[in-house]
Amino acid sequence: MYPFKPGSYAPRNGWYVAAFREEIGEKLLSRWILNQPVVIYRKGDGTAVAVAGRCPHRHFPLGESRRVGDAIQCGYHGITFGADGRCTFIPSQATVPGVLDPCIPACGAGPVGVDLAW
Ligand code: FES
Repeated sequence: MYPFKPGSYAPRNGWYVAAFREEIGEKLLSRWILNQPVVIYRKGDGTAVAVAGRCPHRHFPLGESRRVGDAIQCGYHGITFGADGRCTFIPSQATVPGVLDPCIPACGAGPVGVDLAW
């Protein structure tokens, strides 16, 4: 029944507090929201982003991976994901098939509000 998916306890298409503003920086910040892993960080221009927290290849935690510019390079096999959550690089492969994006939109990249007024 809307707005809940079967088996869910909360609306998934909504805003949730994930961190305090001062917690979000260049370092990858791992959080669980609605039982989904999420990674939050600031791009080089200061914009905060949130992307899915598990690599779709072998589910390595992307929060334990490393930044390459504004992207995240998975710490297991090196697949790289842009700040929009889309796969941008696969080692040993010349093309990116576009099917390795972390579960967007259920737990993937989304807008991040950092100046909320209540
Ligand atoms: S688990 Fe991430 S690249 Fe293989």
